Amino acid sequence: MKLHEPRSMLLATILIASLSAPSLAEEKDTVVPAQELKAKTDYCKTCHGLSGQGFRGSFPMPRLAGQQPEYVKNQLQAFIERRRTNPVMFNVSHVLTPAMLTALSGYFKDLNPKPLGGAPRDSLAVGKKIYEEGVPAAEVPPCASCHGPDAKGADAFPRLAGQLHDYMIRKLTNWDKERGQDKANPDNSAIMQPIAHNLTEAQIKAVAAYLSTLE
Ligand code: HEC
Ligand code: HEC
Repeated sequence: MKLHEPRSMLLATILIASLSAPSLAEEKDTVVPAQELKAKTDYCKTCHGLSGQGFRGSFPMPRLAGQQPEYVKNQLQAFIERRRTNPVMFNVSHVLTPAMLTALSGYFKDLNPKPLGGAPRDSLAVGKKIYEEGVPAAEVPPCASCHGPDAKGADAFPRLAGQLHDYMIRKLTNWDKERGQDKANPDNSAIMQPIAHNLTEAQIKAVAAYLSTLE
């Protein structure tokens, strides 16, 4: 198990360094007036919850509170370029100016509401073990090696702590159909692809339930 850690981190570092370099270079921001930012974040909160804690509507709206700015920015760009398919978030994001996109990406980091909860609690111990040790027999590295020991994420690695379990189950189950959809322009979603693919349905449910309880 320990063997996986340096290798997966190295792979991830190389991929992320090579893939996100252009977007970092084009960062030249003007400041967004506070009132405009508030109007926009109020709009985000109608779906993502008043404290960004997530919300269950006809489908789960993910938690954004505490999310890593670089990850948020990458996802908004992926929605705009349709590398990540979601009709709702395409409509929301393609109208954003570059300055607003940057301001929004950092906005949710400092929100820290309690997890929304609601996951079944019967497989939390199994989920914790998968998170910390991976599934060596299926070549799944420890999630913690990339998402961090406390699941708070870092840079392009998303926070998973407190995320809605039903949202994560849907994302991990549909990874290939929703992410990395522009084959000519591969992105960080390629790092998670084999991991999502190699987990069984029961393992996905267990690890998602465990993560949804973390503060
Ligand atoms: C009409 C509802 C709605 C509104 C308004 C909305 N979102 Fe979303 N957002 C969603 C849904 C639904 C998803 C999940 C998409 C999926 O399942 O892939 C999502 C996903 C996201 C994600 C990806 C999260 C992750 O963990 O990968 C980000 C980032 C995001 N939204 C940011 C925003 C921001 C910023 C705003 C405001 C400018 C906003 N959203 C407004 C519904 C909404
Ligand atoms: C080698 C590094 C690595 C490992 C190991 C890893 N992940 Fe990830 N994970 C990532 C990256 C990078 C992303 C963001 C992909 C993107 O930007 O499209 C991600 C994204 C995710 C997402 C989507 C989050 C969201 O808000 O939509 C989930 C859920 C997830 N990982 C769960 C897991 C679980 C569960 C494990 C362990 C079984 C795991 N990851 C192991 C690198 C990793």
